[in-house]
Amino acid sequence: MKILLVAGARPNFVKVAPVYRAIIATGGIDCRLVHTGQHYDYDMSQAFFEDLVIPKPRHFLGAGSGSHAAQTAKIMKAFEKVCIKEKPGMVIVVGDVNSTLACSVTAKKLLINVAHVEAGLRSGDRTMPEEINRIVTDSISDLLFVTERAGIDNLRREGHGEEAIHFVGNVMIDTLFYQLDKLKTADVPLETGIRERMRGESYGVVTLHRPSNVDDRERLLEIMTALAEISGDMPLVFPVHPRTSRSIEEFGLTSLVRRSNLYLTASLSYMSFLAVWKDASLVLTDSGGLQEETTALGVPCFTIRENTERPVTIDEGTNTLVGTTGKGIKEAYRRFRDGDIKKGRIPEFWDGKAAERIAKVILNQKL
Ligand code: UD1
Repeated sequence: MKILLVAGARPNFVKVAPVYRAIIATGGIDCRLVHTGQHYDYDMSQAFFEDLVIPKPRHFLGAGSGSHAAQTAKIMKAFEKVCIKEKPGMVIVVGDVNSTLACSVTAKKLLINVAHVEAGLRSGDRTMPEEINRIVTDSISDLLFVTERAGIDNLRREGHGEEAIHFVGNVMIDTLFYQLDKLKTADVPLETGIRERMRGESYGVVTLHRPSNVDDRERLLEIMTALAEISGDMPLVFPVHPRTSRSIEEFGLTSLVRRSNLYLTASLSYMSFLAVWKDASLVLTDSGGLQEETTALGVPCFTIRENTERPVTIDEGTNTLVGTTGKGIKEAYRRFRDGDIKKGRIPEFWDGKAAERIAKVILNQKL
């Protein structure tokens, strides 16, 4: 059996690493990696391949940036050629980025089976590009690998048959536990500025990149002002996504940062970032994956969004939705300082074995 496993953007690399390992370990499958090139900077792509020891992709599509339509179209055209050449029995896509949608649709139109890892998540917010990517990808996938029970309910409601739905757990957490083990003996390089912040009694970590939070000046100013204020009480380390970095400069927010105790640094590699956030007292983020990772390690997390597609992190984990207003963020921080700190438990099947379950299901397919 031949499978093409697709990754395009930073969170995808984290998800394909254990899936690739587990599929290869079955011994009976020829699994070939495809990198769409949606993320291309060293620290957004190659650094992750190195940290997560993902082999060099068989195909690199060089998609790069662009509008949603332009980026998606470029990936589709290039991936169609790869599918025609490789004739795989199955294409596996992960997550909810533009590469996920582009490659699932392309494969399905060539009558190739599609498996979606991280299926069924819904924020209910169709202004998010990721929500559209999730809905479209799930609607045409033959195998739906689900991370949390809410995903099963969503897929059933959308009319998917039971035979397609497989509750396997979370491959992002597979990577987390695997890399955490390696971190015990690894020598991870960290800037002096970060180390200084980590030396104190407590520190927080920030990530921010959702277009709805960082593309609008007023919104970003409000969030950054709240973060600057919080940093006066607890130093904050903030690895900045390229999109956010551009906005901070363009909107003239660098002086606000300079006056604060926010420590901004370029995006970090997986291991460096893990070394920083795992011991943080608090993580403030608008990322999807980090909501789950913090829940898995029991680190309190404020999600700077109005909704989440990962409700188990709220119901069982350490995640709190704090909204996107300065007032909401600061009030949540005040409660946190007063000792209202969420203690969660690890959700079902977030045990480091999700990719093994996926490989077992795939091996049973008659392709
Ligand atoms: C994408 C995903 C998002 C995911 C995020 C993680 C979609 C719709 N969004 O958002 O779900 O959470 O990745 O990072 O697929 N850029 C660089 N260097 C890079 C990559 C991007 O400078 O290596 C710049 C691009 O020029 C672009 C901007 O960052 O203008 C955004 O990149 P893009 O891949 O379009 O979306 P993200 O915001 O990264």
